[in-house]
Amino acid sequence: MPDILIDTEGPVRIVRMNRPEKKNALTLAMYETMAAAIEDAGKDAGVRCLLIAGAPDVFCAGNDLNDFVAMAQSGALGTPVIRFLHTLARCDKPLVAAVSGNAVGVGTTMLLHCDQVIASETATMMTPFVSLGLLPEAGSSLIAPRLMGHARAYSLLVMGKPLSAAEGKAAGIVNAVVPAAELDVRALAVARDIAAMPSDSATIARRLMRGSVDEIVARIDAEADAFRARLESREAQAAFAAFLSRKR
Ligand code: COA
Repeated sequence: MPDILIDTEGPVRIVRMNRPEKKNALTLAMYETMAAAIEDAGKDAGVRCLLIAGAPDVFCAGNDLNDFVAMAQSGALGTPVIRFLHTLARCDKPLVAAVSGNAVGVGTTMLLHCDQVIASETATMMTPFVSLGLLPEAGSSLIAPRLMGHARAYSLLVMGKPLSAAEGKAAGIVNAVVPAAELDVRALAVARDIAAMPSDSATIARRLMRGSVDEIVARIDAEADAFRARLESREAQAAFAAFLSRKR
């Protein structure tokens, strides 16, 4: 099975992360495929909404930590990562996410770009960037404080405090919390509702609400520059080694 599954349900394009044996940790190839899928959907008039989904027990464990080690050695972040983040920020179609289980790192920050987030009761969102010696990414340092206020964004992005689905809803980054068994159906229903709206009005309203996309892209690039340097930090190297060599 491919690591990313792409399906079409009427006007909804579904992009599903499918590497459950590695908790949907994202490899460069997965970023590349997701970016291409979102770009293709943007060009397809038949697609009126995108749905990003994961596996039943995990949404996404963030960037593959083996790739972080390789990126630290090469001194470059990986073009597919930047391409994916830019594509997410520049996506002009409505984005819905269906989140079950852990959403870690970019698994959480990609949600901040979504228009609707439907979470199962099992969902947990967390960004342990700073404890790994890293930094917030994906434009999250700009978007999260806007969405949830500085103090709550600080708890999430800097202190690495996890948010349950209910806490995510209270913080304003989750729309609905549903039983795990209903997640796919409920998220698809939301995506279909959005797809059924007059699309020009919906597109213009979304653009107005999101503000300057260039500002978001500029923040993604600024974060990426600082992140790249932090990958080589003593703290990050130690955290990667500890995770990748742990004994269970
Ligand atoms: N990169 C690479 N491999 C990862 C990974 C990641 N981000 N997350 C999980 N995996 C791998 C594990 O190494 C393990 O592989 P193995 O079976 O070959 O040993 C497999 O996925 C299952 O992970 P495991 O930790 O056993 O699952 P869990 O259910 O106990 O815990 C998580 C799930 C997501 C909480 C945990 O895997 C985790 O903390 N992952 C790292 C998250 C992270 O720091 N991401 C980067 C943020 S910037």
